[in-house]
Amino acid sequence: MLQETLINATKAGAAVLAQFFNQKDLKISNKEGVNNLVTEADHASEKAIIETIRATFADHYILSEESGELVMDSTYKWIIDPIDGTVNFANGIPICCVSVAIEKDGKMIHGAVYNPLINEFYLAERGNGASLNGKPIHVSDKKEVASSCLVTGFPYTYLDIPNGPLQCFERFIRKGIPVRRLGSAAIDLCWVAAGRFDGFYEHKLQAWDSAAGFLMVEEAGGTVTDFGNNYYSPYQPQILATNGKIHAEMLQWISGDKS
Ligand code: IPD
Ligand code: CA
Ligand code: CA
Repeated sequence: MLQETLINATKAGAAVLAQFFNQKDLKISNKEGVNNLVTEADHASEKAIIETIRATFADHYILSEESGELVMDSTYKWIIDPIDGTVNFANGIPICCVSVAIEKDGKMIHGAVYNPLINEFYLAERGNGASLNGKPIHVSDKKEVASSCLVTGFPYTYLDIPNGPLQCFERFIRKGIPVRRLGSAAIDLCWVAAGRFDGFYEHKLQAWDSAAGFLMVEEAGGTVTDFGNNYYSPYQPQILATNGKIHAEMLQWISGDKS
């Protein structure tokens, strides 16, 4: 029932995303930061997702990007990004998705990420693997960073810290290591899980960006930590998600121990 509702809620949000995609006169406003957009589609997707969850689990806790925390006294918490990749969405770039995860007693147990524009539905269940459109997926086999294909993202407001986003990016680019920037953290993580990318790192994410995607990587056989190699929590900002084999080396590149 839990997973069925997760699938239905994710599909309900994705139907809204697809309906608004490339629509003229889309209402767009700006949140805190430069070009941190929210559109009427984000709100409509969120409404469809929450209504679907509430119809079956009226007493579950919900954390959703645009509505914030809908606090309930429950061991279950749904974590929702109604559109991840909103800047892409608003520009007609079909790299955006709906991301929904379920946490129980502080542990992520289910995750779903759906990009209806290219019909890719990713699903993960703790202990039961990850799949793309029903077929099991696995992380890549790459063993060294020098031959890896990486992906990253940048925060809306630039983060001026030592070993910040541009310094790390520069390190890789100077050595000719490809680092892509898709603009959707949930899709970045799913593409690591599917073996398309060998690693993904980002300095500042929110829980809804990564909650479903990090479970996808773990269940596809990968490793996810913060930049200090601590067990990953979506409630802190840093993420390093890899195929596991390049993880230790990636930590060195990010800290500047290797360049
Ligand atoms: C953003 C995307 C992007 C990441 C940003 C996120 P949004 O989410 O995941 O890839 O770099 O940090 O905020 O705003 O499109 O939901
Ligand atoms: Ca997001
Ligand atoms: Ca969003």
